[in-house]
Amino acid sequence: MESQIESFRTEALAAIASAADEAQIESLRVQFLGKGGGLTAFSDRMREVSKEDKPRIGKILNETRSSVTTALDEKRSLLVAQSESLAFEGIDVSLPGTAAPVGALHPITQLMDRAISIFRRMGFALADGPDIETEWHCFDALNTPADHPARNEADTFYMPDGRLLRTHTSTIQIRTMQHCAPPVRIIAPGAAYRRDEVDATHLAQFNQMEGLYVDENVTLGDLRGTLEYFFRELFGKDAEFRFRPHFFPFTEPSFEVDIKAAALGGGRWLEIAGCGMVDPAVIEAVNAKRGDRALDPERHSGFAFGFGIDRLAMIMSGVPDIRLFTDSDQRFLAQF
Ligand code: PHE
Repeated sequence: MESQIESFRTEALAAIASAADEAQIESLRVQFLGKGGGLTAFSDRMREVSKEDKPRIGKILNETRSSVTTALDEKRSLLVAQSESLAFEGIDVSLPGTAAPVGALHPITQLMDRAISIFRRMGFALADGPDIETEWHCFDALNTPADHPARNEADTFYMPDGRLLRTHTSTIQIRTMQHCAPPVRIIAPGAAYRRDEVDATHLAQFNQMEGLYVDENVTLGDLRGTLEYFFRELFGKDAEFRFRPHFFPFTEPSFEVDIKAAALGGGRWLEIAGCGMVDPAVIEAVNAKRGDRALDPERHSGFAFGFGIDRLAMIMSGVPDIRLFTDSDQRFLAQF
């Protein structure tokens, strides 16, 4: 039996050495070490071995088992390593990689974020409201008479149910005062919609940022200080301001803000924003809706302002056509 085990070992090791792949290794493993396999058969025959020979033959059997097992394991890892290096053979690891294109925020979003962070430093909270609005929030509460041209079908998008696409984000002033008592200090960035003929300076959908501050003793001086601080942060310390009397239904007095700054090309005045002191009629309209007098026109005063983000971005970056912002042209967008 001793010589039989010896020749089994020799044959087994030779077969393992010439195995060509992992599958062959696994079938050899079953053949040599498995339940019905060669070594198990020898183990079964140990019963026939005489008492004095048992320890010696047993030892040979154990050595054979361990050398076959080791040979199988070693050959297997060798084959695995070989097939892995074969898979990488066609790859030149010294070639430069393929760069993944990195995106960036849209220029309008970048400017919005900058504007928001300046107002937040002054204690303004971010407020939001729906794009589809009631006529009351967009016009009536803002003291806009029924025959005002902005309410015209030709200027505003109306839904079949009488609601409309907000023509300015001033609607958010109303919504905020409906739910919060003074002090109220918010900015409201968002989309606004007007039935304008689309051209180089007009889109039917554009972006605005409005602000509202209502508290005791809020003055025109506060309004001017707030806007000057904001626009100087944006355009630089050299910015000059001009408040030009104007009319808005929801503020009294009302102004348009003109700015001159080197960052805006210098030289000429540019009309940048509308603003004014909240008209008491707006406060009364909100009170009537709330059913209380949380806002007291005798005690509370406030200011509001609004400007177009797209127009601002155009002026600041020298973009000649507003439609570039919505064309999704990489050659344009990649410049920001
Ligand atoms: N809502 C005005 C507009 O869209 C801007 C504005 C806001 C003016 C607040 C005064 C006060 O043109």
